[in-house]
Amino acid sequence: MLHETKKRKIGRNDPCPCGSGLKYKKCCMNKPRSNMDRVDVKRMYAEKYRIRLKDAQDVEGIRRAGRLVVDTLDLAERHIKPGIKTDDINKLVHDFTVKHGATPAPLNYRGYPKSVCVSVNEVICHGIPSDRVLKDGDIVNVDVTSILNGYYADASKTFFVGKAGADAKKIVVVARGSLKVGLRQVRPGNTIGDIGWAIQQYAEGEGCSVVREFVGHGVGFDFHEPPQVPHYGRKGEGVPLVPGMVFTIEPMINLGRKDLYVLDDNWTAVTEDGSLSAQFEQTVLVTDTGYESLTPYEL
Ligand code: MF3
Ligand code: CO
Ligand code: CO
Repeated sequence: MLHETKKRKIGRNDPCPCGSGLKYKKCCMNKPRSNMDRVDVKRMYAEKYRIRLKDAQDVEGIRRAGRLVVDTLDLAERHIKPGIKTDDINKLVHDFTVKHGATPAPLNYRGYPKSVCVSVNEVICHGIPSDRVLKDGDIVNVDVTSILNGYYADASKTFFVGKAGADAKKIVVVARGSLKVGLRQVRPGNTIGDIGWAIQQYAEGEGCSVVREFVGHGVGFDFHEPPQVPHYGRKGEGVPLVPGMVFTIEPMINLGRKDLYVLDDNWTAVTEDGSLSAQFEQTVLVTDTGYESLTPYEL
């Protein structure tokens, strides 16, 4: 077939290609070129990748949910000390979230029984709050997702309980660094694969391993949306990043081997070799020039 080079010109009275249902002359014809480009990209990403790009109003909604998530993590941090139960963190997170007019997304999500994930030491993720008592030297990840006015934001941090040993310090430094190097790749023109590539290079270079079974994800209108964001991979592979994409980066990094198994509760993922695992997660927006964290905290 002959390569098509000529683009048919859109008539003034044709339906606008942006899909508004208005005539072209009443819609995008006199708007700046970038406006139509954006609309085209939005449609293309929806059709090709099932990715729902966010507009300014959506972003403001997710940003507000994200501020609440960060405040919730700060609250948890202030209460974490030897002697508290992981269920105490669940109650704090649940009550604080509801008090601020939001809903804890984990509660009843695919049968998950609590309002937050609390993952101690060799638990990689999805630890279910219980009577387990935190003790001096533990590390604990608290993963909070809140729904505020219909918008989701998702973030987590790993905290020290009391005084940290050398292994605890090491894995927390590398997990935090992994999120940092991943974030540095987020800008239009880069791809999803660039993020995973940077994380894997860094974490493995530090002698640690990257979990494969759990990945970052689109977020905002729902808890887990396309695309998936692996924390390993190859430069230049995967979906090209464009402004308006909102997704999490949440590398789970093990001190030993990357292998895991899931406990009989069907949620708790633990390292197969019993080594420590740590994680940091933020929800990020791709902007015209780079990224904005919608769950901003200092890394
Ligand atoms: N917050 C987790 C994530 O980062 C998902 C937890 S699902 C739950 O994607 F059901 F365990 F809450
Ligand atoms: Co997440
Ligand atoms: Co999360």
